[in-house]
Amino acid sequence: METVVSGIRPTGNLHLGNYFGAMKNFVAMQQDFNSFFFIADYHSLTTHPHPKDLHDTVRQVVAEYLACGIDPEKSTLYLQSDVPETAELYLFMNMLAYVGELERSTSFKDKIRKHPDNVNAGLLTYPVLMASDIILHRADKVPVGKDQTQHLEMTRDFAQRFNRVYETEYFPLPTAFNFSQELVKVPGLDGSGKMGKSEGEGNAIFLIDEPAAIRKKVMRALTDSGPKEINSQKPEVIQNIFLLMKLVSADDTLKFFENAFNNCTIRYGDMKKQLAEDIIHFTTPIREKVNAYYSDAAYLHKVLAQGEEKARASAAKTIKEVREIIGFRKF
Ligand code: TYM
Repeated sequence: METVVSGIRPTGNLHLGNYFGAMKNFVAMQQDFNSFFFIADYHSLTTHPHPKDLHDTVRQVVAEYLACGIDPEKSTLYLQSDVPETAELYLFMNMLAYVGELERSTSFKDKIRKHPDNVNAGLLTYPVLMASDIILHRADKVPVGKDQTQHLEMTRDFAQRFNRVYETEYFPLPTAFNFSQELVKVPGLDGSGKMGKSEGEGNAIFLIDEPAAIRKKVMRALTDSGPKEINSQKPEVIQNIFLLMKLVSADDTLKFFENAFNNCTIRYGDMKKQLAEDIIHFTTPIREKVNAYYSDAAYLHKVLAQGEEKARASAAKTIKEVREIIGFRKF
């Protein structure tokens, strides 16, 4: 059976980008794969979260994962920091990663541009930690959004380098995965490209947003004065609204607005009203489940304890074998 691994940093609530980029696919796969999903709390330390914030967010995101449909009976759902074998593999893999290639990674360049005051070594080696998460369970497939493409390429490079250096076929070369063949990029609402938790206010729709907040954000989404010619190309901000509609609305709703765009009768106010209602329809059952899971601390503890045990068993096996391959053997 093939193995699938994915994770999300607990730096805020889950948004539609996380859901359609990663979570939805993972949930669809968990039945048929040996599946691991983790809360990437080691990764979140690059931004130095306050311990209390980190602690509170973890509880919230476990509730969100479960509400999205991760089934702890089918998948191993765990907290990354509960599995310190991750850190040992990260150490080994750091010896095989070159500073030059890490410096060239677009996410690193992006981070140093946005946060020149906090260019820590953990940011530089972030792709090594991510590769370690993935190969720790010898994954074949990794459900992620389009923004993670380069990280997956680097993961394959590191895994292949390990295999080459140690003359083994030990690690499979994992690929980014989406059922629709293409990786997804969910656009933000402010015209800035990607939906993300660290983008500007109003850019992201969180799964736990109340209906009023969703209506407000969607109605404020950037549009323009409308098409002037029949069947014209959509400008990017308009494409974004259509992309969001494609994710949450019925096919005939989308078709209706496509036609209206093409014959220049579209009213973006009406389209956004419809989009907001369809998002609310989609997120409401998830939001209600998040609240129910969040208040059941005993259950959340049980899920994480069970996940820790299963993940550590898998990780310990890999670490034992990797140590042998590297040459750390008993006399
Ligand atoms: P993170 O926490 O930024 O995002 C988690 C997942 O959500 C996807 N995503 C999106 N997909 C489509 N459109 C968007 N607007 C959008 N925003 C976020 C991301 O592609 C990702 O799949 N480095 C990772 C976390 C990680 C990881 C791993 C993932 C650490 N180790 C091992 C997979 C396997 C990250 O920062 O994702």
